[in-house]
Amino acid sequence: MNVSDLREILQYVPRFRERIFVIAVDGAVAASENFSNILLDLAVLRSLSVRVILVHGASRQISDLATKRGIKVSNTDGTGITDDATLEVAIDAAIRLTNGIMEGLSAVDLRAAYANAIIAHPAGILGGTDQLFTGRVERVDNHALELLLKEGIIPVIPPLGFDGEGRTYRVNSDGIALEVAEALHAAKIIFLGADDVVGGPSPLPRQLSIDEAEDLTRKLRASGGSSGLISKLECAARSCRVGVPRAHLLDGRINEALLTEIFSHEGSGTMVYSNEYQQIRRIFKKDVRAVMNLIRQSVEDEEIARRTRADILSRIEDYWILEIDRTPIACVALHVDSANSLAEMACLYVSKAHENKGYGRKLMAFAENLAKEKGIERVYALSTRAVNYLQQKGGFTEADTSMLPGERRARYEVSGRNSRILVKELRPKSS
Ligand code: ARG
Repeated sequence: MNVSDLREILQYVPRFRERIFVIAVDGAVAASENFSNILLDLAVLRSLSVRVILVHGASRQISDLATKRGIKVSNTDGTGITDDATLEVAIDAAIRLTNGIMEGLSAVDLRAAYANAIIAHPAGILGGTDQLFTGRVERVDNHALELLLKEGIIPVIPPLGFDGEGRTYRVNSDGIALEVAEALHAAKIIFLGADDVVGGPSPLPRQLSIDEAEDLTRKLRASGGSSGLISKLECAARSCRVGVPRAHLLDGRINEALLTEIFSHEGSGTMVYSNEYQQIRRIFKKDVRAVMNLIRQSVEDEEIARRTRADILSRIEDYWILEIDRTPIACVALHVDSANSLAEMACLYVSKAHENKGYGRKLMAFAENLAKEKGIERVYALSTRAVNYLQQKGGFTEADTSMLPGERRARYEVSGRNSRILVKELRPKSS
């Protein structure tokens, strides 16, 4: 591991300290081999003072128990009808699993408590059919949960709810996670799913704004996507609408998926976010040092022309950085020469740890747009070692020094770098 990875990890530690994470584990994940690793990762989170609430599903366990008992259940995931017999199996299977989870938590020295914090009402009659013992969350007993958290105890919440009469209802766990996260102003919901999260036809995008997540939910619904995925994506988007800054969908069967998602810039799964995550912005005086640090190695490797602090300062308004969670990971400069309707794209660099993820292309497109907005017709770049990149990814073609304006050509010759010259027309010449 290098220092920049370590910095990346450590950057998130203070950000998440004392914050509440609702971790929603599907029954299938709790039954998977990886669950013991997840428990260890929860211990890591606790050691960093993250306050964890564990919500679990139990569909897998309910179907298994029903098969064992030879009972036909009316629904397993708390989204359909729960008849009498199904409720009985659901209570047995869910509470057994809660107990199993508590055993696992004790084994990694974490204190946990079963919390009956979900006050539920019957889902009622939907589409003309009484949903019987399927419930919906009426209220979350946040006071009880807060007391446990304050004592350093992990509340474990099964997919069941209770009403004031002491009746139990089967409630879908994604919905519980959403309600709990909202009630406790959680910093995150993390859904750890199995096939439903990753089993779709195409991989999910790495991050989605709320609008994008809602769009995708609609599309998946129209195209008959997996109901588990739709439910999680919808709950993720809704949680962001009600104030949870970030919700994540991860494959709970992959070791380290959880820690990588939380402590790296790009994560390992899909994130729905409502706060600032990635941005391209102009640099200020205070950022000059960061830009110089970013490109230092590349300058030493003769990829990027050497420039001093004064060089950057003298044209500071030309420089842009791409940040992830406020860490600069890439930069570009655009020097505009309006008189010649030309602009030079320079200082394009993506830090090693973030290579091959499309950031370079993103910045090139950004610079081009910027140039277009300024009415520029051609962009050029001088490059010693990124010629192929600029041709293949940027659509630049090689030109000779004659295209450089006089003053720029003079500087080119003095530099002795012998860079290749690459050009891109922003508008077809004929138009
Ligand atoms: N580690 C950060 C967080 O937990 C960023 C995660 C980004 N994840 C992603 N799938 N894009 O908030």
